[in-house]
Amino acid sequence: MSELRDDFDRRIDYLRLSITDRCNLRCVYCMPPEGVVPSTHKEILRYEEIIRIVGIAAGLGVRKVRLTGGEPLTRKNVSFLVASLKKIPGIRDLSMTTNGTLLERHAQELADAGLDRVNVSVDSFDPGRYRQITRGGSLDAVMRGIAAAGKAGLRPVKINMVPMRGVNDDEALEFAGLTLSSDLHVRFIEFMPSGDNGYWSPERYISTEELKKIIAALGPLVPVRIRKNGPSRYFRIGGAKGVVGFISAITHHFCSACNRLRLTADGKLRPCLFSETEIDLKAALRSGGPDDEIARLIRLAIKAKPEGHAMGDTVSRRGPLAVGGGKKRPMAKIGG
Ligand code: 5AD
Ligand code: SF4
Repeated sequence: MSELRDDFDRRIDYLRLSITDRCNLRCVYCMPPEGVVPSTHKEILRYEEIIRIVGIAAGLGVRKVRLTGGEPLTRKNVSFLVASLKKIPGIRDLSMTTNGTLLERHAQELADAGLDRVNVSVDSFDPGRYRQITRGGSLDAVMRGIAAAGKAGLRPVKINMVPMRGVNDDEALEFAGLTLSSDLHVRFIEFMPSGDNGYWSPERYISTEELKKIIAALGPLVPVRIRKNGPSRYFRIGGAKGVVGFISAITHHFCSACNRLRLTADGKLRPCLFSETEIDLKAALRSGGPDDEIARLIRLAIKAKPEGHAMGDTVSRRGPLAVGGGKKRPMAKIGG
């Protein structure tokens, strides 16, 4: 089997696919209140186009695929896409990042279609606060979605939480405490400047180090080795059933373990979350480009992966660096 290595000897085997830039929520750190203008139907890659790209990428060494959005479950017939991707030789791991609000009704059919796991984004377990952060979302629907995912075997269900000072940081212990008695993975994602909605600030930002100190009140954090966990670091609290993870985009351990490429809903490969560089696969696809040409562009995107980013500077200096290079694409347009 072939494998892809970039210039910094990182093995690139993970492709994140944003399958839509639509979302049914309007999280304060992701979107402006009115939302962002979604791409039109024609601008978005068709499922056949996505399947073709993944087929070519798998031939080059991609083994893991994650569906993201916007909210992937706002797109019709995602189970068809899942089933098609699952059939591609070489794809060993197929997962989804979702806000969970539509998961209850889709979990079983997704599992039946071959989805392996889900990550669910939840930033508060208080219904009112959840509604505020997401500007209208129903925590109850998400909790039912998480239960349905576990029941359907989409395990381990991973919860993604973005801790923000003065917003939800007082819930960090409760989130981490969930892992004591359930096999959930709870992952804390350092709050990153993204889009240009101005919600990020150094005051709201909490580093992984600070968070770990808070969580250590539950017991010692024992490192666990989870094979191929990319940029996250995992720990078990005492004899907990589940694990807590930290994704420290800003402080450390991130770029050197970066094994991924991202494909935007409108067909652009993004070598790095923190750079605006994009390589247009859609134009090549739609002008009848052969597989060789698509493969060449995928290799080019890998070649364009920078060694690292300087996000840490943003925190101290309020510098220009942000997700997407500080320009307009919000996370919903990149896929997290
Ligand atoms: N900082 C950290 N995480 C973010 N996400 C979206 N925007 C940001 C940000 N600015 C997270 C979502 C979701 C994942 C796809 O990315 O909460 O869990
Ligand atoms: Fe939607 Fe995710 Fe953005 Fe929230 S963070 S608005 S759930 S895309």
